[in-house]
Amino acid sequence: MVSIQNKVALVTGAASGIGRAAAHLLALEGAQVLAVDRDESGVGRVCEAISARGARAGCAVCDLGEAEQIRAMVESALAQYGRIDVLVHAAGICHAMPLLQLSDDQWRETLRINLDGTFFLTRDVGRAMVEQGSGTMILMTSDRGVYGSIDYAHYAASKGGMIALTKSLALALGKHGVTVNGLNPGMTDTPLARTANPKNWDIKAAADVLGKAAMPDEIAQTILFLAGTGGAYTTGQILGTRIRYGQ
Ligand SMILES: NC(=O)c1ccc[n+]([C@@H]2O[C@H](COP(=O)([O-])OP(=O)(O)OC[C@H]3O[C@@H](n4cnc5c(N)ncnc54)[C@H](O)[C@@H]3O)[C@@H](O)[C@H]2O)c1
Repeated sequence: MVSIQNKVALVTGAASGIGRAAAHLLALEGAQVLAVDRDESGVGRVCEAISARGARAGCAVCDLGEAEQIRAMVESALAQYGRIDVLVHAAGICHAMPLLQLSDDQWRETLRINLDGTFFLTRDVGRAMVEQGSGTMILMTSDRGVYGSIDYAHYAASKGGMIALTKSLALALGKHGVTVNGLNPGMTDTPLARTANPKNWDIKAAADVLGKAAMPDEIAQTILFLAGTGGAYTTGQILGTRIRYGQ
């Protein structure tokens, strides 16, 4: 088993949903977590909650669509902790809009945060991991990035781009001891998913493969696996949490 005890784990989107659950679980398993989000009060509360449970978490505020902010945040993390062993990238946005009604700004904002930001972040963290000669990245992708979507074309395009980036990173960094995987969490009960599915949540959840939506803590268990034992040799893979049902 590969332990994450005393590993430095940078977790984005840590103020809410899947990122928050991952930050808690990794910290409780012994990692030194750096929780990052643009929601300053939210990420602060998460760090306090983790510390209150006797685990270790620092926090940083960063707009993860902005290259300069990302560079400064990664530099500061390296100055503080000396290394980054695990990157969990869960920051993202998702807003419904029929494809032909999408505005230029809606398209650009989704691509800015979900895809541009992922490139800036993984490039900067990737450089540090290559220098260390080790590391693992887990990027939250989506089934929509594989299958497309009528009302989420901008989101699907951003996640499809993330999937291609995951594979490219795996190819580029593998010989430097760095593994990179994507995780499609499926329908998970978070503010993002509730906002994106305002109607018929219970019906959609009941129709999913396991008869319910995932809870963020359940997705965090898969992230923990990929951060440790699962990420030791597996790379360039896009894991789904369950077989996809029609939608
Ligand atoms: N929940 C689902 O059903 C589901 C399904 C497929 C994929 N995903 C993906 O999982 C990831 C986590 O989603 P979630 O459901 O936990 O969402 P969430 O809304 O609960 O959490 C997302 C977090 O990202 C942060 N964030 C958004 N934009 C940011 C930015 N520019 N800079 C910094 N932080 C920013 C938000 O403040 C929030 O704390 C996302 O990438 C999402 O696309 C979720």
